[in-house]
Amino acid sequence: MEMPELSGTTRHALKEAILTPRFYTTDFDQIDRLKIDRMRDEFEWIRAEFEHDYNKKHFVRNEEFLANFDDMPEREPFIEFLERSCTAEFSGCLLYAEMVKHLKDPTLRAIFKYMSRDEGRHAGFLNKTMADLNVALDLSVLQKRKKYTHFKPKFIFYATYLSEKIGYARYITIYRHLEKSPEWIIHPIFKWFEQWCNDEYRHGEFFSMLMRSQPGLLSGLNRNWIRFFLLAVYATMYLNDARRSSFYAALGLNWRDYDQRVLRLCNDISSQVYPVTLPVNNPQFFRNLDACVEYDSQISQLGGRKDPIAMAQKARLSSAIATRLFATYRLPPMTTTEVTRWKGLEGFPNYPGPEWRTKTVTAD
Ligand SMILES: [Fe+2]
Ligand SMILES: [Fe+2]
Repeated sequence: MEMPELSGTTRHALKEAILTPRFYTTDFDQIDRLKIDRMRDEFEWIRAEFEHDYNKKHFVRNEEFLANFDDMPEREPFIEFLERSCTAEFSGCLLYAEMVKHLKDPTLRAIFKYMSRDEGRHAGFLNKTMADLNVALDLSVLQKRKKYTHFKPKFIFYATYLSEKIGYARYITIYRHLEKSPEWIIHPIFKWFEQWCNDEYRHGEFFSMLMRSQPGLLSGLNRNWIRFFLLAVYATMYLNDARRSSFYAALGLNWRDYDQRVLRLCNDISSQVYPVTLPVNNPQFFRNLDACVEYDSQISQLGGRKDPIAMAQKARLSSAIATRLFATYRLPPMTTTEVTRWKGLEGFPNYPGPEWRTKTVTAD
């Protein structure tokens, strides 16, 4: 389809591919029927955390953003990074806003409203940063024209929980690295990542609560769905980042080390709620993902070739990726025990019990 009136970046963000950020919709009525009363006080506590709005004043660009970045290293991949991030943030903003429209429970409505506020702010910050670089990404066009993928509520919970937590792990890992090696800060936006990723961590805390309030989501055959989503999210990130190794190199990072650190952290965190996580310490785990990266790069080397030999090779390589992913899925998972379970992050309070109401709110 030709869309001549749209900017190149908007058109790019509209394209659908397996590994690109998507927009989601779900069965909101089914979510509206969820019962959370058993954990009402805990949800009220996190609602109050969101209401506090820790990052209210954080997302303001300073004069450093107005410098000339025409000659920055890896400008194109950096812009693509902004575009993908902006699309993903905006996707969360829209999904959470739809929840507010459809849900009747006042606690859940308030929480989704605050989370939509945060994601809207994140998307806006990225969008303005792109505008500073003279790149236009029209979010209202994306909202109207991008295809929405329908997921059952439980799949939305598994996937959104992970995308919040992996978002946290990705941002904090970049931030900590640049904190140690500031000579690799190619753009000021990375200095905003620390407080930014705290928002994502908090969003993930809410989804972990939501899943715990529905114990059926965390037991029985759903354990297989949990493993499936863990693998889908991890493999997607690994393949995506492998294709962008030069961008990570421009930040002074080896993409593979970076990804493995992020995945290990995300896997640890997700044991807070998931009864099983992936065996990232089994040497076969990353050996399989590395094989997928190798097949994927052979597919890209075939480029747009449509001749029968290239098509046959692409089919063979795609099925080799599928075989490796299935083998990874079948590796014995790690079972969460009370000893190994993630206890929380420093600086982030866990629900202290009903006494939270009598305590004063922590200062900024
Ligand atoms: Fe966000
Ligand atoms: Fe988020």
